[in-house]
Order: sequence, then structure tokens, then C-alpha cells
Amino acid sequence: MRLITRNHGPHASRTARDFLAIEGLPLPELRGLLDSAERLLPAAVGDAQADQRLRGKVVANIFFEDSTRTRVSFEVAAKRLGAEVVNLGASGSSASKGESLVDTARNIEAMGVDAIVVRTSISGGAQLVSQFVECPVINAGDGRHEHPTQALLDMLSLRLRLGDLANKRIAIVGDIANSRVARSATHAAVALGAEVIVVGPPSLVPQGFESITRGAGKITITHDLDSILGEIDAIMMLRIQLERAAGNGIASDYRTGYGLTALRRSRLRPGALIMHPGPVNRGVEIDDAVADDSADSVILAQVSCGVAARMAVLLRAIAH
Ligand code: CP
Repeated sequence: MRLITRNHGPHASRTARDFLAIEGLPLPELRGLLDSAERLLPAAVGDAQADQRLRGKVVANIFFEDSTRTRVSFEVAAKRLGAEVVNLGASGSSASKGESLVDTARNIEAMGVDAIVVRTSISGGAQLVSQFVECPVINAGDGRHEHPTQALLDMLSLRLRLGDLANKRIAIVGDIANSRVARSATHAAVALGAEVIVVGPPSLVPQGFESITRGAGKITITHDLDSILGEIDAIMMLRIQLERAAGNGIASDYRTGYGLTALRRSRLRPGALIMHPGPVNRGVEIDDAVADDSADSVILAQVSCGVAARMAVLLRAIAH
């Protein structure tokens, strides 16, 4: 019988089955997760029967920040593998009465769940939870820090269309300062040998971002989107993170300088991929016709890849 008896205090020893960040993830593990996700893709989208390796397991989604894609795709991923899922949000839970994220996670773990998926506005919040529970913890986005499963789905989406990412040039455009998506994608892409070109207004590109990670690839920074359009293999547009006060100081004509308009889209190389993690603010960072471009927009393919990526991460966490 599995009873939680430890009542207080963080602990140092962690399971290798946590998935908290791309930073520091060994390259073979990153490649292995991408290979696993690619194999799982037919089952992820319902074209093939997934194995039921997680039958009898229970996955708890604790989402203390809003989400559509990540929460639902973790749920779909778990169910495709035969697991049961419980969902908890800040609204409707005792978080609204002041219960902390850590106390919430410890109580959910005491019910015998096999893994906790956590989204929080606290940068480092997933790692904090992992220090107080013994079951595997998966980071579904923690503040401005990381969104590691988003990076997996982004790299899978790129790899499916571009092949090996070594020496590919990927632009990430917009609110870099507040974006956990940008951080995780940059760590992953540079590890895989790509060049990441970070683009945004000076107020939204943190100083020193070009040295946040090391790997076979590299990071360059520019504030001039138009200057790089003809040189890139993919462009990932980011939403301004208004919930993190990123709107302060942003020009009202942001689209003029940094929006992916139809004119800018026409200056991309043929076949350059158009990406966005969602949610999309149409008419701000990307125009309708570009987001919905049937040839080169992979925005919805990214969402499909997200189910496969989360299946791979759940298997790594709890299949044994
Ligand atoms: N990309 C992403 O994290 O979307 P959600 O906030 O809807 O989960």
C-alpha cells in the first residue's frame, strides 16, 4: 500500500522522470523524446491504436493558469495511453481560499496519483512542487521560466517538415522577455544545432539573451524583422503577454514593426514554416491569411504534435 507519510519540508532526491525544463536536458534524452513522440503521432491523432501502457495510472492536471491546448492535450495524451485524468484549476479549487500550490500538490499526491502536471504563474513553480512530492512532476508552463513540452512539440513540428534541424534558421518574434515558449524553444533548437534569430522591440528582448544557452547551434538578436525574412527556414510568432504586463510601453502600432502581415509573408523563402504556440491574437502579431495559410502555416499541426509530445513525456514519467 502506498501511503504518503512525510508531512513537511522539501527533499533533495528527485525522480529522473520529472520533466521540468529543456535547459540541462541531455541531448540524447531530447532526441529520444522527439523520436518517441514521432512514433506516437499516429496514435496521438487517432489514426492508430495507442498501446495502453498507462492503464490503471492516474494523471493529475493542476492548472493554476488558464490553458486550452496544454491542458486538453495532456488529457488527450493520457487517455490515448489508457490513463485516467483528474483536472484541477485555481477557480473551483481550494486555491481560491488561499491554499498554496505546494499544499495543493501534496494533497493531490496523497490521493495516490501517479504523476502531477502543473501550470503556474510562478517561475520555478514546477520545480518547487517537485521538491515536495515524490511522484513525477511535469512542467506545463511556469511563469516566464519554461514550457518544455511546448518546445518538444515545436521541435517535432519543425523536424517533420525540415528534417534535421542542424544549421536551420528559426526566427522567434515578439515578446521574448515574458515568453517561456521562447526560452524553451531556444534551449531545444540550439541543442539540436539550429540558429535561433530572436526578433523584437528592444523593450521585449532581454539583455544577454544570446547567451542563455550553449549547444551546437547559436542565438542571434535583431530588432529589424524585415531584414531577416528572406533568410529563415521557419518563423515563430509570439503573443504579447498582457497578463505579465508586457503591454506597458509597447507601441500601439506593434503590428507595423513586428506583425507577420501578408506583405511580410510574401518575402519569406518558399516553404518557410509559419508557427505560433497559441493563443493567437489575430491582426496583432499575425494576420488571418498568414495564420490560416494552408501551405506553410503549421499552427494546427503544432497542436497535433503536442498530443504526441505529451504522450512521450507521460510514458517517460510513469510507464514502468
Ligand atoms: N501554447 C500554449 O501553452 O497554449 P495554452 O496556454 O492554451 O495551453
